[in-house]
Amino acid sequence: MKKIAPSILSADFSRLDREVRAVERAGADLIHVDVMDGHFVPNITIGPLVVTGLRKLTSLPLDVHLMIEEPDQYIEAFAQAGSAWITIHAEVCRNLRRMVRKIRKLNVRPGVVLNPATPLKRLSPVLDEIDLVLLMSVNPGFGGQAFIPEVLKKVEQLRKTIDRNRYPVEIEVDGGIKLENIGEVSRAGGDIFVLGTGIFKTTSYRETIRKLRREIE
Ligand code: DX5
Ligand code: ZN
Repeated sequence: MKKIAPSILSADFSRLDREVRAVERAGADLIHVDVMDGHFVPNITIGPLVVTGLRKLTSLPLDVHLMIEEPDQYIEAFAQAGSAWITIHAEVCRNLRRMVRKIRKLNVRPGVVLNPATPLKRLSPVLDEIDLVLLMSVNPGFGGQAFIPEVLKKVEQLRKTIDRNRYPVEIEVDGGIKLENIGEVSRAGGDIFVLGTGIFKTTSYRETIRKLRREIE
């Protein structure tokens, strides 16, 4: 089943509880949590403490996207905080396989993220061991950027590889997704769609998610 994952990066942090409950009620499938350290990306956002808080607010799985320089040091804390999924960037991992196994051992579903410019071949050492590939369709760091259309080809290519090998791996796409382009991303082979501004900057989350779902089903 295709899934919609609101990114709370664009939520109103002064009322995060209401925002998270609102998207849950509106029909979201996951809550996407953008963790940034001010090194890997030029922005600082959320740490494990906030994930612990979020865990109490919702029964939806927390999809934790680590945009940090040293994931090895923090994976355990984010697992204990209640992450259901943890995705790590291939660009910062010298030993992806070891990191993926570490996540799995903590009973969290592991995924690998690729920036728009990072080639799919970086996935080959781990594609048979992960549950999720997150393809960035913007350069990570901020919400509200424009979708990079070249990423559609990458989604298509990865879809073929996954289907050909029958890997039980889902494809998540993150950045610049809106009602206007989610259909294309879905047809290219995406399974999970992350939307920050595309949900939180609209007036009715319920109406938006209903329309988004119509585009992907
Ligand atoms: C960007 C983050 C995204 C971001 C998406 O670095 O990984 O999850 O919140 O925001 P939109 O949907 O506004 O591009
Ligand atoms: Zn993200």
